[in-house]
Order: sequence, then structure tokens, then C-alpha cells
Amino acid sequence: MKNNWRQKLHLEPEKGWLNDPNGLSFFNGEYHVYFQYCPDSAYGKGGKCWGHWAGKDLTHWRFDGALLRPDFPDDRSGVYSGCGFVKDELLHLFYTGNVKEEGDHDYITSGRGANVITVTTPDGVTMSEKRTLLRNSDYPDYCSCHVRDPKVWEEDGRYKMILGARTLEDKGCVLFYESDDLDSWRFERAESIPDFGYMWECPDIIMLDGHRFLSLSPQGVPREEYCFQNVYSAGYLKYLDGGLGGYEEWDCGFDFYAPQSFTAPDGRVLLIGWMGIGDIPYTNPTAELGWQHCLTIPRELTLRPDGGILQRPMRELDGMEGAPVSLNDGEKLETELPFRFTSLSQAERSRLGIEGILEMTYECGVFTLRFTDEKAGGGRDVRKAKLGSFTGIEIIADTSSLEIFLNGGEKVMSTRFYPAGTAVTLTAEGIAGSICPLEGMEVLSDG
Ligand code: FRU
Repeated sequence: MKNNWRQKLHLEPEKGWLNDPNGLSFFNGEYHVYFQYCPDSAYGKGGKCWGHWAGKDLTHWRFDGALLRPDFPDDRSGVYSGCGFVKDELLHLFYTGNVKEEGDHDYITSGRGANVITVTTPDGVTMSEKRTLLRNSDYPDYCSCHVRDPKVWEEDGRYKMILGARTLEDKGCVLFYESDDLDSWRFERAESIPDFGYMWECPDIIMLDGHRFLSLSPQGVPREEYCFQNVYSAGYLKYLDGGLGGYEEWDCGFDFYAPQSFTAPDGRVLLIGWMGIGDIPYTNPTAELGWQHCLTIPRELTLRPDGGILQRPMRELDGMEGAPVSLNDGEKLETELPFRFTSLSQAERSRLGIEGILEMTYECGVFTLRFTDEKAGGGRDVRKAKLGSFTGIEIIADTSSLEIFLNGGEKVMSTRFYPAGTAVTLTAEGIAGSICPLEGMEVLSDG
């Protein structure tokens, strides 16, 4: 059967464009996933809005359309990224109102307003009036006009906000603000590390078992063989005794950016990313059909024994599995999408292929994802991840994406792919595993 590339396990708009996840929260008995949304352009043209999905269990969703639109003087050029914070039976949303002034501007050092705006909602859908909390004049003098993407949390009885920024010297950094009432915010301090890009987008503070991490999406870090392989990167820095250090990318694949974390009611720290990146040199053929991009599956974060972060696909997928079939070493098997492939491999060398589309190889400490068909990859070519050893792989394959979790989630590689049919043929050499069909999620639309 012909594949229409509509995802079954990933949130994506029916039409238009999606980028960053925003306002992730559990509130009023429901998960809330807002996102950067252009309802009328699959190419991201027009003012950004916040779209919204809500649901009780991460697998059944309702789509409510665009709930925050650029209809306020301080957000007139776009309702940019931000967060959700639950307090006093209300969900408080904080976002960046982007304003582009008319005239001869570079929009870096002049011509751009970057306002922190808040609204509250009693149900995730009905929004209060917008109120501006911070403007360019409230940011340190050394900042350019690029200051955005507020994330708010509570710590030691105070409210904290982190913002991503670009300085006038083209250095990426984060700004910390503090408040007693979520209304009036005082600048606390900035943090950065040397030689690490010109802009840090979508910052987030993540706590795991008392260990603190700064998640960020840096732009302008030069490409390396195993890191920064994409135009923009997304990863985390660890707070170590001597300061910030030890950057690791969240994902070494082709399509991952601007993730945001939140805590589920059972205490799990979940991360959702945009399965896409801005300004990429490859394409997504769904755009011609009227929509582009999806979010990743929520990932459960836990502390790795060596102080890094392990990522596992949400356990809710376990309840969506059908009966497994084995894929033995040297065999090939045709499988309907979506499915999960798992293998506890100990091989020195192995190769897993999706026939006529791509291959995944492990050899000499390097895991390589390589497209063998240019069309199915939309121009994606090769991405590599360095592994000490290869102890396991779990692939969540949806209709047009793969999320590949290596060594129990030590490294992850995500990519979109565009098979012609709804089934693919897996081939295995030096590796064996099992394939489980996965049921799709339910997403009800707003009509
Ligand atoms: C990241 C980003 C954010 C910004 C938003 C605009 O992808 O550039 O920094 O708020 O997208 O859509």
C-alpha cells in the first residue's frame, strides 16, 4: 500500500507547519502539548501561533487548533516559544512575543522586540488577556535583540525563569530571572561557556536525582565528525563543581531540535523535541501535501551511572505492542509500519538495513546511519554516533520516522524517512532481534 507519511505515533498538525514543543505540562488531569504552529503554511510562513493538543494519557489526544495568535501589539510578528507552569489551579503560560519593526534593521542589534508575555488558563484552552512582563530594556545591556524562549520553574520557594540569548559580541548565553509572584521579575545572572556558538535557543533546567543540567539549542558551533553534524545542535551541559561543562547532544540523527522537559504526575521527567530543525539542507516531501514536521515521542529521562542522561521512549508504548516476531541473523523480513525493533546485540560488527532506503552499521566503536536512497531520505546522507561498545538497539519506526535508541538510551538518533509503501523490509547481518507491531495513537481533530 502507498504510504501517505501521516505519522501514527507522533503528534503532527493535519495541515501547516510545526516547530518547537511549548508549554509542556500536566494540568487539570490532562497532558498539555502546545507547539509553534503556522496553520496556513507548510513552510512556516506567516505569524507563529501556539497550537494545542491535550489528552489524559500521552496516547489519546484532542487537537484544539491555534489558541495563541499574534494579535497583541507586543507579539504582533509571532507568538514564539515558551513554557507552562501550574500554580493556584491555573496554568500560567510564558512565551516570547516577537516584534519586527519596519525600517532598515538587521533584526539582531536593532528592529526586533523580544517581549516575555504571560497568559493564564483554567482549562488549557480559554486564555486570559496577554500581559507583558519583560521587554528588551529589561535585559542586560550586552544582549542583542535575540532574547527568547522563557522556561519557568520553582526552586527554594522562589520562581525562576531562564531565557536564551545572543550577546552583541555574538556569544550564546542564558539569562536567569527571579520572582516572588510570577509577575515582577528581577535579573539574577547570566551563564555561558567560551566558544560555544552565537545564540542559545530554548534553554531548560533539568534536575535528575539531585543532578542539575542545562538543556540548550546552540547555534553556530562548528561541525565535528561525531557532534554538531546538523546546522543547529541541541544538547545539555552538566553543572559540575567547577562550572558548566561536558556537552552532550540529545540526539545524533538528522531531525531533532528545541526540546523541552516537564514532569509527569508519576514523577517521570519527560522530554519532547521537535523532530525537525530550521534551515536544514534536506527536505520533507509532506510539505507539498500540505503539512510539515512532527514532535518526537516523549522520552523518559534518567541519570546515567557516569553522570550523563539516559533517554528511553515513554513506557506507554509498551501497551500498544502486538505479538513479536523474530528477525534472525542473516534474514530479511517485511514489516508493516509502525513497529518497534529491539536487540541486545554484543556484536563487534553488525548491519541492520531497511532495504532500498538506509542502513545502520556498528563497527569499531562507531554507529553509522546512512541513507542508501536519496529520495527516501529527502537528501539526508550520513550521521555518526561514537559508542564505547554496542550493547543494544531499540528502534521506534513510525510511518515516516525512526527514533533509534542505542545502548539502552545512552545515545539516540532520530530521522524522518519517506518509504514508498506502508511496509519496509528489514535485513540483519551480525545482529538478531525482535519486531513488534505498534498500534497507532488516537488524535481527534477540532473538526
Ligand atoms: C527554535 C526557535 C525559538 C523561537 C521559535 C520561533 O526553533 O527559533 O528560538 O522561539 O523557534 O518559532
